[in-house]
Amino acid sequence: MAFSVSIPGQLGLIDEPYSGVAGLLAAPLVSAITVAQITGERYQSLLNGTSFTNLTGLVTAKGPSGLWLRSTTPDDNERTSESVYVFGAAFAHNITRGQIITIDGNVTEYRSSTAYLYLTEVTTPRNVRIVSSGNAVEPVVLSKRTSGLIGRRDVSPPTELYSSLDTNNDIFAYPNNVSRVSAENPRLNPGRFGMDFWESLSGELVTIQGVTALGRPANTFGDQWVYGDWKVTGENSRGGLSVVDKDSNPETLIVGTPLDGTRNVNTTKLGDTLETIVGVVQYDFGFYSILPLTGTKIKDAKQPELPPPSNIKPNGKCDGITVGSYNAENFAAGNTRVPRIVEHIVAYMNSPSIVFLQEIQDNNGETNNGNVDANATLLELTTALSARSLVPWDFVDVDPVNNQDGGAPGGNIRNAYIYRSDQLRLYKPNPGGPLDANAVLPGPSLRYNPGRITMPQVFNSSRKPLVAEWETVDGKGHFFTVNVHFTSKGGSSSLAGDPRPPVNGGIDGRIAQGEVTGAFIAEILKQDKNAAIIAAGDFNEFSGVEPLKRFVEVSGLRDLDVVANIKDVERYSYTFGGSQQELDHAYVSPKPARSVRNKDFEHVHVNTWVSGGNEVSDHDPALAKLNVCRN
Ligand SMILES: *[C@@H]1O[C@H](CO)[C@@H](O)[C@H](O)[C@H]1NC(C)=O
Ligand SMILES: *[C@@H]1O[C@H](CO)[C@@H](O)[C@H](O)[C@H]1NC(C)=O
Ligand SMILES: *[C@@H]1O[C@H](CO)[C@@H](O)[C@H](O)[C@H]1NC(C)=O
Ligand SMILES: *[C@@H]1O[C@H](CO)[C@@H](O)[C@H](O)[C@H]1NC(C)=O
Ligand SMILES: *[C@@H]1O[C@H](CO)[C@@H](O)[C@H](O)[C@H]1NC(C)=O
Ligand SMILES: *[C@@H]1O[C@H](CO)[C@@H](O)[C@H](O)[C@H]1NC(C)=O
Ligand SMILES: *[C@@H]1O[C@H](CO)[C@@H](O)[C@H](O)[C@H]1NC(C)=O
Ligand SMILES: *[C@@H]1O[C@H](CO)[C@@H](O)[C@H](O)[C@H]1NC(C)=O
Repeated sequence: MAFSVSIPGQLGLIDEPYSGVAGLLAAPLVSAITVAQITGERYQSLLNGTSFTNLTGLVTAKGPSGLWLRSTTPDDNERTSESVYVFGAAFAHNITRGQIITIDGNVTEYRSSTAYLYLTEVTTPRNVRIVSSGNAVEPVVLSKRTSGLIGRRDVSPPTELYSSLDTNNDIFAYPNNVSRVSAENPRLNPGRFGMDFWESLSGELVTIQGVTALGRPANTFGDQWVYGDWKVTGENSRGGLSVVDKDSNPETLIVGTPLDGTRNVNTTKLGDTLETIVGVVQYDFGFYSILPLTGTKIKDAKQPELPPPSNIKPNGKCDGITVGSYNAENFAAGNTRVPRIVEHIVAYMNSPSIVFLQEIQDNNGETNNGNVDANATLLELTTALSARSLVPWDFVDVDPVNNQDGGAPGGNIRNAYIYRSDQLRLYKPNPGGPLDANAVLPGPSLRYNPGRITMPQVFNSSRKPLVAEWETVDGKGHFFTVNVHFTSKGGSSSLAGDPRPPVNGGIDGRIAQGEVTGAFIAEILKQDKNAAIIAAGDFNEFSGVEPLKRFVEVSGLRDLDVVANIKDVERYSYTFGGSQQELDHAYVSPKPARSVRNKDFEHVHVNTWVSGGNEVSDHDPALAKLNVCRN
């Protein structure tokens, strides 16, 4: 990538932009090779493994293990980066920012994991010659308002697509992992693909203004996903960026460890703004990053921290029950989060008629002693709920076989229902055991109520969907529930990683689980097309990706986000990798879907919005209002 650069000071070139003509600096800087020749038009340098002499550049930044060198003879090719990382702590030790130096060295491609991209760098720098010192160092301003780059109107990243290698421009295309950047080494198209854009800036010192935080810090080092004052798509009302169809937000990048040894602020939350960041763009641990010269600071903290309580309330009749769903994140008896989860359910979700819970652990949590019973966990929760809400709560679940359903060893997470016994009861209860495969009997009714959908291979090391049949206490309403927690995305590769499309961990498992669960639901609808069925929970997948496409096709259910006309950017329940995303969904059968009105479904953002320590779970709960009257 080309840019205009002015180097005041000893060369006497104050405010004279370079035009890309090497001859400008002819006398002192005989240049055998340029930075752009090293970085090239592709991800990996065609000069990898070779040595060079007489590379000249301006030192724009120094880090603990090397420095960054910017070309003094930039080209006007937007594919080539004009800066490069020079690895070598001892070499960098005596060199200062603002010096123009000439070096010899080798071109190397480096990565610490085969899941990552290679970084093109200069290694074994030698024969350093100081050309001049004290030159001004101007960062390239990345902004929709600047025009500092030759041949480019603005300096803003593409907002939707990641890589030309993603099948049909779909980063979640199935099958995934069908090609690798390192093998194809595509020519960069920085105007169209986000990864190509950042790669074309690799090693460049940049300024990011109008910085918005995309969530809490990604780790304890204070690494932080952000975007700057450039064009974005998928922006939600909180200021974050949601994953929507064919748009996974390549315009974001992560702020890494500050180069001066200070720390980034670690109290950020979604939508906070940060002070202007100056730093180096560099691919680091699987992501395009900006390594700031010094630690970040919050400019404006978003207020209020919590969303308003939902407007969705049960009306106590069969035409207005409310259904919540909440992944409570490894929740066990004695958990200090009990009062806060109760507050979410009572004050923010208005004491729903029923809540589908996921990740309920057994009574002794992650103590791996063979116990699988969760009655103390659920009793503690419902007792606290009853005390706080002044309405009676009850619970039901089916214990798993010890350590067979995945999650933290010994925790025995399972799906469970908590419900208001003043509004609902199980219809003809007949609980199944962990190995009793539920089935649809003539009626339609259930072989076990409640009972789990089990199938050895499909749900191996994963939660079994918990199916139940309910009626309202006045007998006028009747419905089926399917509480799911599909297999996780563990093992996924970074969206900006080497495999293309990225590895979507567990996808084959989720496809099979979606098909089996969908077929169970279809069996109920085959017998009674007017049956009221609600399937909800943590599907660990996004709408429109293969597992959920198949689930919807096979089950015949409808997506409540669509039925209730929820704006696509507000469909999120989780933050990961710089985006808000929807892992948690709710689906209903056609009859109740017909009476759902706009906004009768809501993702209640009590967890995605708040700062570190104030979240009760890593997922937001969701809430829907439904008509389950028999007639
Ligand atoms: C490199 O620079 C030196 C002077 O510093 C010069 O003698 C030499 O010819 C140059 N080499 C090339 C390949 O340009
Ligand atoms: C770079 O070159 C070295 C030395 O020739 C070679 O071992 C390595 O495989 C190359 N790396 C890539 C990514 O081509
Ligand atoms: C630098 O590259 C040259 C040419 O490939 C090679 O002979 C030499 O061993 C390399 N030096 C180092 C230190 O890697
Ligand atoms: C740095 O400079 C000092 C003083 O000029 C010198 O003694 C030392 O060897 C230099 N270190 C390196 C790594 O070049
Ligand atoms: C991705 O594909 C490569 C073969 O190209 C294979 O070696 C690797 O195991 C695959 N990774 C995953 C996680 O499936
Ligand atoms: C946050 O930063 C402060 C100050 O640098 C530090 O004391 C604290 O341990 C950090 N907290 C976390 C969770 O990293
Ligand atoms: C849990 O159930 C067991 C029997 O399965 C019973 O002995 C125990 O008292 C129950 N615990 C609570 C807290 O209800
Ligand atoms: C189930 O998964 C475990 C590991 O989690 C594995 O050892 C076992 O072979 C799997 N069983 C089946 C039937 O796939």
